[in-house]
Amino acid sequence: MDKKNIIKRYKKNLQLLKKFNKFYFEKDNPRVNDAEYDQLKIKTLQLEKQYIFLKKFGSPADFVGAKPASKFKKIKHLKPMLSLSNSFGKEDMEDFISKINNYLNDKSLNMEFFSEPKIDGISATLIYEKGNLTKGLSRGDGVTGEDILDNLKTIKEIPKKIVSKEVPNLIEIRCEIYIGKKDFMKIRENFANPRNAAGGSLRQKNPHETAKIPLKYFAYGFGAIETMVFKKQSEFLKRISEWGFITNPLSVIVKNLDEIENQHSKIESLRSSLDYDIDGLVYKVNDLSLQKRLGNTSSSPRWATAYKFSAEKASTKIKDIVIQVGRTGAITPVAKVIPVTVGGVVVSNATLHNEDEILRKDIRVGDTIQIQRAGDVIPQVVSVDISKREKNSKKFNFPTKCLCGAVTKKDFSKSTNKKDAVRRCGRGYECKFTAREKLKHIVSKEAFNIDGLGKKVIDQFWDLKLIKEPSDIFELKYEKIKKLEGWGDLSINNLKKAIINSQTINLDKFIYSIGIRHIGQENGKILASFFGSINEFSKLFDLKSRKRLLNNLVDLDGIGQTQIESIENFFLNEINTKITKNLINKLNIKNYSKINISGKFSNKKIMFTGGFQKMSRSEAKSITENNGGKVLGSISKKLDILVVGETKPTKRKIEQAKKLNIKVILEKEWNKILNS
Ligand code: IVH
Repeated sequence: MDKKNIIKRYKKNLQLLKKFNKFYFEKDNPRVNDAEYDQLKIKTLQLEKQYIFLKKFGSPADFVGAKPASKFKKIKHLKPMLSLSNSFGKEDMEDFISKINNYLNDKSLNMEFFSEPKIDGISATLIYEKGNLTKGLSRGDGVTGEDILDNLKTIKEIPKKIVSKEVPNLIEIRCEIYIGKKDFMKIRENFANPRNAAGGSLRQKNPHETAKIPLKYFAYGFGAIETMVFKKQSEFLKRISEWGFITNPLSVIVKNLDEIENQHSKIESLRSSLDYDIDGLVYKVNDLSLQKRLGNTSSSPRWATAYKFSAEKASTKIKDIVIQVGRTGAITPVAKVIPVTVGGVVVSNATLHNEDEILRKDIRVGDTIQIQRAGDVIPQVVSVDISKREKNSKKFNFPTKCLCGAVTKKDFSKSTNKKDAVRRCGRGYECKFTAREKLKHIVSKEAFNIDGLGKKVIDQFWDLKLIKEPSDIFELKYEKIKKLEGWGDLSINNLKKAIINSQTINLDKFIYSIGIRHIGQENGKILASFFGSINEFSKLFDLKSRKRLLNNLVDLDGIGQTQIESIENFFLNEINTKITKNLINKLNIKNYSKINISGKFSNKKIMFTGGFQKMSRSEAKSITENNGGKVLGSISKKLDILVVGETKPTKRKIEQAKKLNIKVILEKEWNKILNS
């Protein structure tokens, strides 16, 4: 081999090793097995030893602990690990506070908030039984985590035993694991940022390797506790810090919007001097009994929000404006920009939202623009610098056709009584651009949650015509995939396993996954509890029974005319029906298990009218459900109780209920039942 070819081969090996590391560390999806990886590494090391001139290209010996390993054991969390809603300014914070006040509907409360830095690391949860650390899990998908106890134990500052008389029998401490900025500088070669480095290190199979990387942590919350002994978040953190846990020193109690803003500016100005990355502050209702009353939406608690620091901005130029098609056919314009670094990440695309936004800001190809990146979302165009515009620049004409060639249109929204701002392609699966996005939705975390089948892989399989519709996922030609670059026995086996696992799915997730517009996760659950089984749900395929079922849906609290019309339109389309049937044939869809919560309202159907004095309608609904009852949205024979609030109840509803001999109670009686 001549020198040129030796260099070429060596560089290629280094590149492959880096790629395998990336899949292993950053994506948690090893592409080759241990032996294959080791062989490649040894070969490359031998080359390096043999030809001294290769040294300058870097050495695989310097890669940090790069040993692909099999998966960790999966364990269900005692309580789900949720995410946080985001706030980006004073208005969002005002909104956060007013939503809380509306929900609790109690003016006598003197609300206190606890402010903590939001650490940009990897979340983990530590379970202590009788004071002993017995389990340590990663977040995973929030419901199921991975057993990473051995790696977590390598962090010296994590107590292995809590020595205190008052420690609850079972306590779960939630924390954020990170690598200090200074420590990161020593190993930055192999990772994009400290967060990825911490994630990679935690997911190593060999705890000795983890021990080499200086991981640190802050404890910020709790999961399950038996028996609960704390009254406030501030008190909880103080106590666990006395027990030896590391808590963040920059946390304080704040009492109003001004104090919230002040604290935000104060910590933002400290941000760059801290040895750990933070991307905002978390504001939490301090009183734990109020937190309990507020509860969660399907993905985040109502009692907390992450108030992000102002987005990082940069200036660049628009090379082109193209359109992208989303899974609902929505056409989004995207600016292709000259690559620029914003907050440590190279950005080459920025969203322009919709046609109106382009018109409003008069954004043109060739323009110099300011872009900003807030959180993980795709960067946005903030403003145009008109002074730098070239004389011959032309207004942008928004295409009226989808990438598939079909004419797009703006729907009329009944709820706002206006035309939507968004143009849509209405061809659904017949548009190959929409279809591909629908597939990405189906495999996503909240839907079928297939590990190893991410967006990029869907693109790749789609281009190779390996997947055209959802049911194809369950008939993949693995021999073909095996021949593709970057796929090895291990990654194929992992993919097969993940796909088989996903074939058993709950009815609510299935309904959400098929991607009916306006049917999100919450509505998936409401519909699943109405239909109960996939057999009942399948009656929607037939025109006659569909009409009857849709009429009954009107009764459901949370389902409105928009949702009903959307379901009707979805199944009016024969292709949607066919594709849904094909998918059902491949699956084992579990009946919706109505968790028969025994409680005050077990099996009772309740409806509310009018506003209440001591709680909001939302809280009344969640109390009913937590006590085994169901809330209906209209009066029918099925209803058991109509609860009448003091403020503006609808007379007609009360009369209707009385006619049907339904029990009607006043707010006072309702409160009595709750307190009994
Ligand atoms: S409280 C939602 N407090 O942010 C459950 N989270 O986006 C309550 N995080 O998974 C989370 N610092 O990994 C909370 N001081 C802090 C935090 C924090 C970082 C992470 C955590 C959580 C994620 C939610």
